[in-house]
Amino acid sequence: MDIIVRPESMERITTLELAKAFIDEQVKKIRDKVGDKKVLLALSGGVDSSVVAALLIKAIGKQLISVHVNHGLMRKGESEEVIKVFRDELDANLVYVDATDRFLNKLVDVADPEQKRKIIGEEFIRVFEEESSKLRGISFLAQGTIYPDIIESKGVKAHHNVGGLPEDVEFEGLVEPLELLYKDEVRVVGRALGLPSSMVDRQPFPGPGLGVRCLGAITRDRLHALREADAILREEFDLCGLSKKVWQYFISVPDMKSVGVRDGKRYEGWCAVMRAVNTVDAMSATIEEIPYETLYKITSRIITEVEGINRVVYDLTPKPTGTIEWE
Ligand code: XMP
Repeated sequence: MDIIVRPESMERITTLELAKAFIDEQVKKIRDKVGDKKVLLALSGGVDSSVVAALLIKAIGKQLISVHVNHGLMRKGESEEVIKVFRDELDANLVYVDATDRFLNKLVDVADPEQKRKIIGEEFIRVFEEESSKLRGISFLAQGTIYPDIIESKGVKAHHNVGGLPEDVEFEGLVEPLELLYKDEVRVVGRALGLPSSMVDRQPFPGPGLGVRCLGAITRDRLHALREADAILREEFDLCGLSKKVWQYFISVPDMKSVGVRDGKRYEGWCAVMRAVNTVDAMSATIEEIPYETLYKITSRIITEVEGINRVVYDLTPKPTGTIEWE
């Protein structure tokens, strides 16, 4: 296989004008390659797949069939936003698959983090294969590969993303229009394509989603509590501007209860662990200094609004020794 190398002469895409020129060039290339054939895309709602989808919709409209698999481990409102932006606003040919029960049933009693990742990754490919086999006459597979993915897959670290290539589906070729771009350039291109900031500027989110933040064996009630607490954290970070400053911030909920008290009665509940880290390459990370009032507000909202959580803590551990995720 050819190794793709970004030409040194390629200008960094930093402005909307440069992004528009890139888009025009790619639209032409995509049309030349695809002709009147159909293209399939796994649209997770992450930055890269969303930008690929918007670019392909611009180039070939309904010849792009996007499949959004909701594995039940999305953050609050995430699948709804994919549907709103792509189906309602961009009029995309979007297949929405709610596979929540399938994934959660497979994960019952599975506590080992790597086992959880493996199950989620494999099940994702299976669902995607099943959906694509229902569709007829698809010639190409589009992917949101970006340049760092290509650099990393030269052996530095294994790819552990959900959404690997399905093996049983034969395609004439791949469409990977972002393969020479860095993440910041992908965001500029996304903005130039009119995608909302909530989609283009979003923080990194692991492929296995909340599955690796609902620590230990996942249960539906604890997953629900985690999702609600995480939504509160994100809302408050948006309100105070921290979401623009911090690289990654989220809640994890360990599989343990501590003793608490509510309305004068013993109340055993889960503990929400807040984490907010800054990093350049995710290999090491430092902790954001969050103002006390913000910590206090998030804590009091979570313990009053989220059923099942009676304690909130802020994780001050840098990487190393802690990894960014707890699992
Ligand atoms: P760690 O926890 O290893 O995380 O310090 C580094 C970055 O990688 C993300 N992460 C994942 N991303 N699939 C992904 O696509 C995974 O299984 C996975 N595990 C961790 C993590 O969120 C952080 O940004």
